[in-house]
Amino acid sequence: MTEDRAKMNLALQLEQYLPPWILELVRGVSEEADRLGQRVYLVGGVVRDLLLGQANFDLDLVIEGDAVRLAQQLARSPQIKLVTHPRFGTAKLGYGDFSLDMASARQETYASPGALPKVFPGTLSDDLSRRDFTMNAMSICLASKDYAILIDPYDGKSDLERGLIRVLHSRSFIDDATRILRAVRYEQRLGFSLEPGTAELLVRDVPMLRTISPDRMRHELELILRERHPERAIERLGELGALQQINPQLKGNGWIAERFDRTRKLNKARQLPSLYLCLLVYHLSKEESENFIQRLNLPKNTAQVLRDTLRLKGELCLLDRPSVKRSAVYSLLHGYNPVAIQANAVASESPLACSNLELFLTRLRYVKTALDGEKLISLGISAGPELGRVLQELHRAKLDGEVKTRADEERLALSLKP
Ligand code: CTP
Repeated sequence: MTEDRAKMNLALQLEQYLPPWILELVRGVSEEADRLGQRVYLVGGVVRDLLLGQANFDLDLVIEGDAVRLAQQLARSPQIKLVTHPRFGTAKLGYGDFSLDMASARQETYASPGALPKVFPGTLSDDLSRRDFTMNAMSICLASKDYAILIDPYDGKSDLERGLIRVLHSRSFIDDATRILRAVRYEQRLGFSLEPGTAELLVRDVPMLRTISPDRMRHELELILRERHPERAIERLGELGALQQINPQLKGNGWIAERFDRTRKLNKARQLPSLYLCLLVYHLSKEESENFIQRLNLPKNTAQVLRDTLRLKGELCLLDRPSVKRSAVYSLLHGYNPVAIQANAVASESPLACSNLELFLTRLRYVKTALDGEKLISLGISAGPELGRVLQELHRAKLDGEVKTRADEERLALSLKP
């Protein structure tokens, strides 16, 4: 294909790919950049996904010039929200729910493996050369002069066509071992393969995951758990020995695959990452799970959900009895985090325990008595510990089906009056 034909094709693809109002915004950015003598490029994931024909409106723009100044010029209307980080040469323009990320082109050097890189101003070519994989190191020029030209110095397009994930150089995983997790995430998401040389480097550099800070490691794991089928990446990381760098006891086996799948069928998307995390640690001992929490520096709430999950797992035998009363199910479970209960409902091997956990989640936790404290006082029950006892007994009786109507509750309350 001639260069002109390729350019026309890409311009057309951009028009078909981006919703008209986003295209309009991007054109506005590019015109303002032209006025300031700067050049704007679309980079990274959105270029990859555009060439794959997959929707992605997370637009990253690289500016040859000053991204902060450009963003400030564009944010003149009060409807546009502007956040800048002049020290990093980055800016975010918010248009309601949609945002544009802009960054001045930069070069990076890694002072030590795994550390965040030192960043200096650079050219587009520097900026592409610091990236993880060839398919993520392409850009599309948006400047009016070279509009819609694909800049692809590492043959990312041909790797995309062949379904290959390839690093740009042999130190890539040493500089930034999070790329090991990223490589596997893309491989499994796109159904691609690691290019053989890249696969060799990856296996060689798996131990470099030790150099990654807990926060960065957690971020990458969270990205995996937000994928449509995270179990695939988890299994693959296990195969490559990378999962064990997070915790030596973690397994990406058939059990994980089956339970993740079950979780998806039963739960809302919003809850999935936390549930997956609970399932991932389900077979760890208390000590191992504490190491896991520490390795990822999990936030307090998330750590508590994992601890609750394992503590409840140890108590499930109490729910594995046909004679267990509903009030007993309630009193065992009401102090646990619902995500931990749900995780056990997916993970437990006991159908009876599972159905009691589901019963709690779908019904028992919502059971309320018709009478409240005020009404009980009007029936002559005195405020204080006596009232508490009566309320508790009414709730228990309601859970166990011993009272059904308000009149039943009143009778029971009066019978409990000393
Ligand atoms: N990048 C990189 N090395 C990293 C992280 C990011 O080189 N460790 C670069 C890649 O060029 C990537 C871009 O930064 O394309 C943006 O990163 P990110 O937003 O994490 O990924 P996307 O490519 O947008 O892809 P997706 O969100 O679909 O994972």
